[in-house]
Amino acid sequence: MELEGKVILVTGAGGGMGQAIVRKLLAEGAHVAGIDLSEAAMAGLDHERFTAVGADVLAEEAMAEAFAAVHEAHGRIDSLVNAVGIAQAAAPIEDVPLSQWRKLLEINATALFITSKEAVRYMKARREGAIVTIASISAVRPRPGLQAYIASKGAAESFSRALAIEVAPYGIRVNTIHPGPTDTGMLGQFAASGTDAEQAKKEIFADSVPLGRLVKPDDIADSVIHLVSDRTKMMTGAVLHVDGGRGL
Ligand SMILES: NC(=O)c1ccc[n+]([C@@H]2O[C@H](COP(=O)([O-])OP(=O)(O)OC[C@H]3O[C@@H](n4cnc5c(N)ncnc54)[C@H](O)[C@@H]3O)[C@@H](O)[C@H]2O)c1
Repeated sequence: MELEGKVILVTGAGGGMGQAIVRKLLAEGAHVAGIDLSEAAMAGLDHERFTAVGADVLAEEAMAEAFAAVHEAHGRIDSLVNAVGIAQAAAPIEDVPLSQWRKLLEINATALFITSKEAVRYMKARREGAIVTIASISAVRPRPGLQAYIASKGAAESFSRALAIEVAPYGIRVNTIHPGPTDTGMLGQFAASGTDAEQAKKEIFADSVPLGRLVKPDDIADSVIHLVSDRTKMMTGAVLHVDGGRGL
């Protein structure tokens, strides 16, 4: 068990990727706190080393309390995995309300600022830590009609690299994963309204992956394990494409 004794917070823990990430972290021996708006979505993750926190990642005080509680319980925070996110249904820019742009930027980018700030507080004291953020290969290879989502993911990558150089002197590593189209509840939500989500998954998304299939949540979880483990002690500011070649 590679992560025995490590204490790790995961946002978006109730999501398709979040659940797979939590399960693999638990299987490697870590103590995990999952944060998600939906407590019900985390119900299946029940484990003696798992704590579910039902909260909004944009609620600054609730996040401060969640991190403080984890630190109090274990005396350390080793890693933060930012897997929270929301999708945008593809639409021409003229049809996208400003409120939707703002919501996407808030949850997909501003939330990273809020949770990373809390994580760094505790990691600096121990002079070690690993933060992993799930962004998206669309930041590198855009699809039409996803301008707000893709801008938020570009911000996620830039923020992670900026934080990596800032906190490197404290032994804290910050890395990004860019998933390709991944088989979770979110994927169908990228289809334009009026399009059949299951058909879009097959005909638009799976067919766009050079390796010939959708990414599985476990593919992403395996890379998360890699980046929070001691095997990647000299990796920071890196951007890992786990996309079946979609970004090529
Ligand atoms: N599925 C894909 O094809 C794909 C591809 C590239 C990147 N991503 C990114 O991967 C990450 C995980 O996506 P997923 O496919 O597992 O999506 P998902 O919709 O299955 O999970 C997202 C989770 O985030 C939670 N959430 C949303 N807003 C929240 C908030 N304000 N506070 C707390 N929790 C909140 C939801 O309740 C949900 O459980 C996201 O950042 C997403 O943008 C997904």
